[in-house]
Amino acid sequence: MKTQNGNIDYTKYPLPRIRHHANPVLYFPLKQHKGEKLRYPPLIDRLDWNDVFANGEAAKYLDVGCGLGKFMLETAVRNPGVNILGCEVRQGAVEWISKVIAGEKIANAKALWYSAVNGFGFIDDESIEKIFYFFPDPWIKRRHNKRRAFSIELLGEFHRILEPDGTLYIMTDVPEADKHQQEILAEHSGFSYSYVADEEWDLRVRTNQEEFCMRKNIPFIRMVCRKNKIKNSFKSLLSSIFSRVFTFIIISFLNIFAFKP
Ligand SMILES: C[S@@+](CC[C@H](N)C(=O)[O-])C[C@H]1O[C@@H](n2cnc3c(N)ncnc32)[C@H](O)[C@@H]1O
Repeated sequence: MKTQNGNIDYTKYPLPRIRHHANPVLYFPLKQHKGEKLRYPPLIDRLDWNDVFANGEAAKYLDVGCGLGKFMLETAVRNPGVNILGCEVRQGAVEWISKVIAGEKIANAKALWYSAVNGFGFIDDESIEKIFYFFPDPWIKRRHNKRRAFSIELLGEFHRILEPDGTLYIMTDVPEADKHQQEILAEHSGFSYSYVADEEWDLRVRTNQEEFCMRKNIPFIRMVCRKNKIKNSFKSLLSSIFSRVFTFIIISFLNIFAFKP
């Protein structure tokens, strides 16, 4: 029985045995595995939204690494007018979520078996309102940074698909992942970001991992990243052009009037 606040009775859907971590190769783009025989989630070039959501409209929310989908499913139930798309590399998790969606008749949620590291070419520019990136990287060490899905390329994709005022929400309980994410955000410069406390977090549904961390007193960070209307690098380019033009005008003025013999 689905309650009004979005809770779903998951006991109706027995969980199959799902591996805790997927094969690490799934965390690298498929193009890096040429010639290898892999059970790799299929690449997706384009999606017909009529095949995805009952109303045939495009996704507004994107949940990257949705795991067992609690956040995605309950967010969909609470916001029936908003289509939410999840992507997840563990096929068993996606199959289970699909059973819940069918059983609960949730018309505005869909989980794709897909690795985010291959980009989101099937999502239009500036079409997504919110992206959720919650605890997806299992790696805890700095030397594992190259394995993280969070990269300058992925952040570029997030920036491209987010609406002009769109928001990227991040949570992680891995300090090295937090550091790495901050470095990538600073390098990209297309987002203004801040850490927020639970009271300032405007999402009402908790994820599985968030609840786990809260139960076990495991510290984690919440970050809200707002897409800048103009990339900061573009802003600094504009201000540098402006200051050069201004300097040129002042020097010309001095040459003409002040230093006149
Ligand atoms: C710790 S779980 C967190 C799940 C959920 N977001 C939550 O907060 O409860 C991380 C999930 O991200 C998935 N994941 C990791 N890298 C991914 C990638 N490149 N593409 C899609 N899913 C990924 C993992 O398979 C795993 O299910």
